[in-house]
Amino acid sequence: MGVFTMTQNSGPSNSRRSIVILTGAGISAESGLGTFRDKDGIWTRVNLEDVATPEGFARDPVMVHDFYNARRQNLQDAEPNDAHKALARLEAEFDGEVLIVTQNVDDLHEKGGAKNIIHMHGELLKIRCGNCGHVCVWLEDISLETPCPVCKTSHYLRPHVVWFGEMPFEMGRIDAALTTCDLFLSIGTSGNVYPAAGYVAQIREMGRARSVELNLEPSEGATMFDDCINGPATEIVPAFVDQILT
Ligand code: OAD
Repeated sequence: MGVFTMTQNSGPSNSRRSIVILTGAGISAESGLGTFRDKDGIWTRVNLEDVATPEGFARDPVMVHDFYNARRQNLQDAEPNDAHKALARLEAEFDGEVLIVTQNVDDLHEKGGAKNIIHMHGELLKIRCGNCGHVCVWLEDISLETPCPVCKTSHYLRPHVVWFGEMPFEMGRIDAALTTCDLFLSIGTSGNVYPAAGYVAQIREMGRARSVELNLEPSEGATMFDDCINGPATEIVPAFVDQILT
């Protein structure tokens, strides 16, 4: 059965097909970046309320900077794996639209060659100034004394990542893409964090697109998908992309 066979209503016959791909930490696990909720995941070692909330940052900004400084340094040694590269190949070769909506703050989709990416939880290799709002690429450690490159004020820089209790980025664009897509893929995410965890329900409710989960093991919401494929992302994602492109 073709990957698109179950699409019920793909709109006007001359419309281009469209794929939305939600990714999570599992797609980068085989590149050596930790996931959050697996055994040995980041949230089993670090209290997320301390390092991933605005309140935690207000309480102890030094601890929060240390946490993201270490992750920023670690990320710079990481390489995209075969799953990231397969999605970039899909984007390049598919006769239609492909949008990657990632919860990951790493840059491995970009390094793997993909271009049409929304970082809904922000980007680790960017910083934002709480004083003037400037956002820029930043590869070094930051401390409380680091001045903003634009307004020169210190004490206001923070990682350009979305913390719990904050609004993810580009929600309107994501909703629009979900509304018109024909295929929704969810790769390497446990489905614990909203709004991303709710996308499969939205897709189901609209009854338009086929939904497929590709994950090491079935996630908590696996039964919401039309299909589930389980295994390491570096194996199952390239195989699935081959299936779409043929
Ligand atoms: P999780 O750690 O919650 O889930 C990772 C998922 O990837 C799990 O379902 C694993 O089974 C799966 N997995 C692990 N290794 C894999 C592999 N090699 N191949 C395929 N799948 C694999 O990470 P996320 O769902 O991404 O947000 O977490 C969502 C958000 O929670 C993150 O963006 C982050 C976190 O708190 C913020 O910090 C705002």
